[in-house]
Amino acid sequence: MSHQLVIVLDFGGQYNQLIARRVRECGVYCEVKPYTTPLEELKAMAPIGFIFTGGPNSVYEEKAPHVDPAIFELGIPVLGICYGCQLMAHTLGGKVAPAQDDTAREYGKTETYYDTSCALFKGLPEKGVSWMSHSDYMEKVPEGFALTAHSDHCPNVAIADEKRGFYGVQYHPEVNHTEYGIAMIRNFLYQVCGAVGDWSMGDYKRTAIAAIREKVGSGKVLLALSGGVDSSVCAALLAEAIGEQLTCVFVDHGLMRKNEGDEVEAAFSKWAMNFVRVDAEARFLGKLAGVTEPERKRKIIGEEFIRVFEEESKKIGKVDFLAQGTIYPDVIESGAGDAAVIKSHHNVGGLPDYVDFKEIIEPLRLLFKDEVRQLGRELGLPEYLVTRQPFPGPGLAIRIIGEITKAKADTLRDADAIYREEIAAAGLDKSINQYFAVLTNSRSVGVMGDGRTYDYTLALRAVTTSDFMTADWARIPYDVLDKISVRVVNEVPGINRICYDITSKPPATIEWE
Ligand code: XMP
Repeated sequence: MSHQLVIVLDFGGQYNQLIARRVRECGVYCEVKPYTTPLEELKAMAPIGFIFTGGPNSVYEEKAPHVDPAIFELGIPVLGICYGCQLMAHTLGGKVAPAQDDTAREYGKTETYYDTSCALFKGLPEKGVSWMSHSDYMEKVPEGFALTAHSDHCPNVAIADEKRGFYGVQYHPEVNHTEYGIAMIRNFLYQVCGAVGDWSMGDYKRTAIAAIREKVGSGKVLLALSGGVDSSVCAALLAEAIGEQLTCVFVDHGLMRKNEGDEVEAAFSKWAMNFVRVDAEARFLGKLAGVTEPERKRKIIGEEFIRVFEEESKKIGKVDFLAQGTIYPDVIESGAGDAAVIKSHHNVGGLPDYVDFKEIIEPLRLLFKDEVRQLGRELGLPEYLVTRQPFPGPGLAIRIIGEITKAKADTLRDADAIYREEIAAAGLDKSINQYFAVLTNSRSVGVMGDGRTYDYTLALRAVTTSDFMTADWARIPYDVLDKISVRVVNEVPGINRICYDITSKPPATIEWE
């Protein structure tokens, strides 16, 4: 299978994978290569274009990363972004210097004016906001280059030598803050590089499967499956690639949402891999009996998970590879770049570091969340799994305030299921990023029929957020809240009062414990 290829040459900027993802979004296959890759190797890959990324250096510094100037002799178009733009200017005879005053040093959203006769800006409005982050300034642009965009402070925001197919922008077209940024990348690919759009997630799937087969050979792979989106897609991909060489261990700690265990099991029944569902409800609830302190609950669950996982992996015998559903945002959060570390913030509470395996494989580590979902669909996972909202490893244990019992877990499961059903029925499930019910430890007096009740208060939580680091409480319409309240109180014994949590994060957190 052969595709057109664009090479993103990495100079150490923070958005490099985002550039790659934008190129993929435009239907063009793309690989990120370090700037140190020998020119011969790059040439042999026969790319239709290069994108030079941003980076933390200044091109005039002694130790600044450079490229072999012969890269500009290959007849292949280049788009330089930020540092990449300055590097191109510097290498081709221009002059880059530190900005002398605040006027030429630009950070953040900047009104930018584009010359729409330039191929990069073809079909776009003449004015838009771009996201700048540079403290250097192109004092002199190289011969053959024209200025194709400017801001109020800076005359050379973008440069182009259209004859040779060289384009440079000082801002970051790959970030959402740059209006029309993706359209500019698309223009570079389709107007300049001659892309035909021959790449899709289906291709990614096939390439990833081939790579897994080659790496794993006849070895055995073990995956801890939590039922979350990432580990589920990882499991499906591996199952497709290596079938029975894969064993997925799904530890059902009894603190899953309603029907979740069965749904996960059903979703994987079509593959010939080994699916081990460990029913550990009694074991977890036993360990949690009488425990009310939130951190203690988390610790017990994390430790117990490891014990169960170890016991199961011993039964399987020698495992060659441990697979993890790490995705790109996890890689960034944990400090980028280092392969093969087991993350403590793993969905299922951290894995033992002495399971007997040779290597870790992380087939999703270059994908963003929505790409992972797309891949899941491509693999035929059901929509409810692919679009599942985040669910914490400790599960309902941190949504039952105070002591955890099976009766309380069942009550919460039923109430939470009604809540989720009504949010979906109101068409709010796509716009609210996380929503769930919390069983408070507070009881109050109510009246039902002619009798007095003394039952628990249920809290409803719903937030909108893009990164889960900060969040706003979702403005659910009153009539939807009303419907949920009426249904829960009528259908779930043990609950006689419903509250809606109207705190944002900060000062609250999303979960209650
Ligand atoms: P908080 O409550 O800290 O939650 O605002 C932020 C996001 O993280 C999820 N969360 C967890 N996820 N293991 C996980 O995999 C955990 O122990 C855990 N605790 C919280 C939470 O659901 C929210 O999406």
